[in-house]
Amino acid sequence: MEFHKYKTVWSIRLIIIGLLSFALNGNAVSFRPNEKFAVATSDPLATVVGRNILTAGGNAIDAAVGVGYALAVVQPCCGNIGGGGFMLIHLANGKNTVINFRETAPAAATPQAFFDSAGKPINSSTKSYSAVAVPGTVLGLNTALQKYGTWNLRRVMNPAIKLARTGYHLTDHQVDILNLSVEQFATEPNVAAIFLNHGHPFKAGELLKQKDLAKTLTLISQHGAAIFYHGKIARELAEASQQHGGLLDQQDLANYRIKEQEPLSCYYRGYQVVTLPPPASGATVCEILNITEPFSLEKLGYHTTQSVHQIVEAMRFAYADRNQYLGDADYIHIPLQKLISKKYAAHIRSQMIRNTITDSKKIGFMRNPREKQQTTAYTVADQYGNVVTVTYTLNGYFGAKVIPGHLGFFLNNEIDDFAIRQGVPNQFGLIQGKANIITPGKRPLSSISQVMIFQGDNFIATLGTPGGSTIISQIVEGIENIIDYKMNIHDAVNASRFHMQWLPDRIYMEPKVFSSQVIQALKNMGYYLQWGSPYQGLYWGTMVGILKNPHNHLFSSATQIFRKPTVVNH
Ligand code: DON
Repeated sequence: MEFHKYKTVWSIRLIIIGLLSFALNGNAVSFRPNEKFAVATSDPLATVVGRNILTAGGNAIDAAVGVGYALAVVQPCCGNIGGGGFMLIHLANGKNTVINFRETAPAAATPQAFFDSAGKPINSSTKSYSAVAVPGTVLGLNTALQKYGTWNLRRVMNPAIKLARTGYHLTDHQVDILNLSVEQFATEPNVAAIFLNHGHPFKAGELLKQKDLAKTLTLISQHGAAIFYHGKIARELAEASQQHGGLLDQQDLANYRIKEQEPLSCYYRGYQVVTLPPPASGATVCEILNITEPFSLEKLGYHTTQSVHQIVEAMRFAYADRNQYLGDADYIHIPLQKLISKKYAAHIRSQMIRNTITDSKKIGFMRNPREKQQTTAYTVADQYGNVVTVTYTLNGYFGAKVIPGHLGFFLNNEIDDFAIRQGVPNQFGLIQGKANIITPGKRPLSSISQVMIFQGDNFIATLGTPGGSTIISQIVEGIENIIDYKMNIHDAVNASRFHMQWLPDRIYMEPKVFSSQVIQALKNMGYYLQWGSPYQGLYWGTMVGILKNPHNHLFSSATQIFRKPTVVNH
């Protein structure tokens, strides 16, 4: 199959789109065609940090680490040093690897810490210090740099430290996101001191300086991860946690380890899809792709009733499996090879009756999973052949919405990604199976599932996005946009998306995703359709992607155009 036909008319169209993106977003260039290297992030200042590193000769890992620290400054809702995530790396020598820096549950994080003997919730899994899992970002980024980077930590972190110390003028988009949490900021004096402007919400154009964060980042740049897990930062963080009824202590930080893992890989229409193993959800992406592979989506058409039906049914079965079987493989047995096999996909197809809808309650274990936001994904490709895609998260916007002492960074609320108690919904309705039950030291199951696509040995594309439980569906649709529908990267990341996650049994839709005829036809088939996502966002992701032109070997990169965060109440 020929991949992309980069005809002149396309190039002109792409340049116009690039210029339009520039005009709409100031210097937030969300699309860049035909470059020797590429960076796509959800913040223009962080993108510049990555591009500067690559321009000065750094490799993709140097740039990814620099961007990771920069996003912790310029996108405090989501970029972080108080959270965790996954880095997928393709090295120029052909090796693919995953740095799993997902947070772990503190030693005190047992189910009993969250419910009393009568089953009444006694601690929150989403708010304040009880929601905080052991952060992995600093060890994850620093290990990646040590093993695969070429620059030293100080040089890579310098731009982030400068952005924190001298500040940056807030954009409309940054203010929109801060505004989602100003009420909670006001209740924490040390948070209000930084993220409110003398007690008032920041306005676009005003300067946000983060002096405490600059000091913390400087310490890390001088002393490495040791100061975060064993030194001054560990002490201050643990002290704040203990003072505020948190579960995390100094020993939890000292015990934290990252894992380097083999990526998961599957084939879709002859392309190799390289993605994340558990406790991330790449397996579910593979399962959906395997189930849909024999259906010619291209012939069925883009967002037609029949193509949507096939994809939605595949999602239904794959999400049911995810919520039953996936979790941290250090603690549970996962039938991973079976779940991603073509044989198993054929078995699932045999249960899917043509033109009918499967009842979700008749498959899986009849539970009702919901997830919440916020996260960020970014990707870098260098001129040497290395590619990196990172998704890291605080879970909710600004995580647990607490900052330890004078350290200047938000802590995650990743505990909420666990099943706190089997079969018992937490206050946000998250119910998952035994495999993901909270256990000290364990990593919570994540929907994060960025991918890289290869044709033979050649890198073709990479995609990543935030979006809670919709991440998996979004990534599948991104892959289909590229492979089945031959979209360029700008269109692939900006296309509206739909989502089905087994339960609740419905198709979630982003605005304008289907024509009114398709909506009516899906309803006639018996589908229940709903605008928005399971966690109330009207739009779900900020997808990033890079596509390599196999003919001229140049990269085109795109970040989904920013939209005002909008909430729909179901
Ligand atoms: O790891 C997970 O699955 C969640 N913590 C991700 C949350 C997320 O993507 C929110 N973003 N919109």
